Amino acid sequence: MLDLISMRADLAASYDLSPSVAKAENNKDIYAKMDRVVPPEDWAMFAPYVEAINKLKKERNAVILAHNYMTPEIYHGIADFVGDSLQLAIKATEVEADVIVQCGVHFMAETSKILSPDKIVLMPDMEAGCSLAESITAEGVEEMRAKYPGAPVVSYVNTTAEVKAASDICCTSANAVQIVDAMESDTVIMTPDQFLAQNVANESTKNVVFWPGSCIVHELYTAEDLRAYRDFDPEVKIIAHPECTPDVVAEADFTGSTSGIVGWIHEHKPAKAMLVTECSMASNIADELPEVEFAKPCNMCPYMKKITLEKILYSLHTMSGAVEVDPSVAEKARLSVERMIDLSRKLGL
Ligand code: 13P
Ligand code: SF4
Repeated sequence: MLDLISMRADLAASYDLSPSVAKAENNKDIYAKMDRVVPPEDWAMFAPYVEAINKLKKERNAVILAHNYMTPEIYHGIADFVGDSLQLAIKATEVEADVIVQCGVHFMAETSKILSPDKIVLMPDMEAGCSLAESITAEGVEEMRAKYPGAPVVSYVNTTAEVKAASDICCTSANAVQIVDAMESDTVIMTPDQFLAQNVANESTKNVVFWPGSCIVHELYTAEDLRAYRDFDPEVKIIAHPECTPDVVAEADFTGSTSGIVGWIHEHKPAKAMLVTECSMASNIADELPEVEFAKPCNMCPYMKKITLEKILYSLHTMSGAVEVDPSVAEKARLSVERMIDLSRKLGL
């Protein structure tokens, strides 16, 4: 576990990180991207970190890949690329830096390392896990294969490298239906998200069998709550992530990956929107879409929220938190991820 007290002492010896109105002003162009959701007092606290990280990442020839669930000061302040899991995985194959700092959860950093074994991939907090990735092991995949002989295994990228290595192909929420449909067999095994699998089954011609994992953020939403919200405010557009239960997805006006959600809101610009997903999603796009009022109910991912500016700076400063994947596991896992990327490109996704 990171020792925050000694981390702070180390950082204080090298950087002036005290709140600064002057640094807030120097970085006002960055602040303009989040001033609807971040108070100026908070920006005066974030700006010294943002300045230090942006300088240090040049010195280290590092790029920062940030998931859509990062907080606005990370998403707008220091990220070089933002996106959903599929976009970040593809970006990891394209960047020409020596170092990738993965602002997201551990499986995302592992995916980057699998795809870029020669790069240093830093994870600012190794404890940023994922309830889905923790729900299944490679043995679980073998159990499913034994139960459904001959059926291909499509594993969500929210899995460990070992599970990816034991699978035939990966998918993300952006391509799951198309990947499953492209399998030759009539029965397809999906791991580890039971709700994503059921949502895919509702759109696919395949017999989808699944592992009983779930996302602790999305499983909390209920269709009943959404109906109550819509009764209260019939104007609201409800936009869900496919890790929600099928009942919730049935209530939604649109369901898609995190970037699919951002794209839909940009295209349709509803007067009111409720994003049935992680809290930072609405915060990150609030300034780009002043005409949209975002309903406040949201659930926070405690894993994603382990990533902070302070930990990112520390990881780049000390070059600590390098993710390693056993080369023999990485080689097999890479096949599953690359098959997904190749098929996605072929399908024009
Ligand atoms: P996306 O691939 O849609 O970004 O989802 C990742 C995730 O962890 C959602 O909970
Ligand atoms: Fe995992 Fe859910 Fe957090 Fe996404 S939101 S990282 S699926 S726990």
